[in-house]
Amino acid sequence: MAHVIAVVNQKGGVGKTATTANLAWSLVAAGHSCLAVDLDPQGSLTISLGFDPDAQTGHTIYEAMVLPADHPHHHALTPLPVDIMGLALVPANLDLAAAELDLNAQYQREFALKRALTPIRSTYDFILIDCPPTLGILAINALAAADAVLIPVGTNYLSLRGLQLLLRSIRLTQQHMNPTLEILGIVGTLYDRRMAHHQDVLQELRKIFPPQGIHVFDSVIARSVRFEEAAMTGRPVVDYAPTNPGAEGYRLLAQEVLTHYGAG
Ligand SMILES: Nc1ncnc2c1ncn2[C@@H]1O[C@H](COP(=O)(O)OP(=O)(O)OP(=O)(O)O)[C@@H](O)[C@H]1O
Ligand SMILES: [Mg+2]
Repeated sequence: MAHVIAVVNQKGGVGKTATTANLAWSLVAAGHSCLAVDLDPQGSLTISLGFDPDAQTGHTIYEAMVLPADHPHHHALTPLPVDIMGLALVPANLDLAAAELDLNAQYQREFALKRALTPIRSTYDFILIDCPPTLGILAINALAAADAVLIPVGTNYLSLRGLQLLLRSIRLTQQHMNPTLEILGIVGTLYDRRMAHHQDVLQELRKIFPPQGIHVFDSVIARSVRFEEAAMTGRPVVDYAPTNPGAEGYRLLAQEVLTHYGAG
């Protein structure tokens, strides 16, 4: 059975998509099969892994998750093979923006993603879900479907704000929908060691969260222009620029995740 990990933070631009793509790739490179699920109508993960979101209509997460089973365009998930053996992608595009409305009419709408993933859960070692920057019905579906939450946090001051709101949503999900959901941990992203306040934020993270029982990963993801370049070429940094410190950070994160699951 796959370990299902939702990569969540309602703050935009903190590296959720970069984390999903690079962690997925690194887990596969370490010998574990992985399905990456794009749950963001922006389709950034789809682009980062080399696909054109606009060309995917008909077999995105939207048709599998939102359209009822008796709808003519409903389909069971058929992930696309990505450019490394063992990695697959369920794409997304703007069609998913209609999910909020469409799901409204559905019975147990918080569990639509969980239902869609059930038939393929035993196919992969890991399923990583890239969430949109909101705490709406899509992110709630990810929390309901996941075993664990991975929270990328930018190491600039403003990134700490809003984390309490996210943790509250996670607690509510645990209470009402998914009692076994665990917080895998927080990973510091966009880190620039030349910036004193980035070091301060990192220290703050390490001071505040472990006493609350929330793990903060040793791996920290360095900021680098290579990330933008990589995303434009449709490859994650771990493949595009493997010696980049950001790539190194994601490989270490994959090792830490594998150790957590006793697979390292
Ligand atoms: N370590 C990094 N160094 C430099 N740039 C990065 C890094 N990680 C991500 N980026 C870039 O920062 C931008 C935001 O990253 P990303 O898309 O991963 O964040 P996100 O949290 O998924 O954003 P959104 O909330 O819009 O979904 C992108 O242009 C990405 O290429
Ligand atoms: Mg994103």
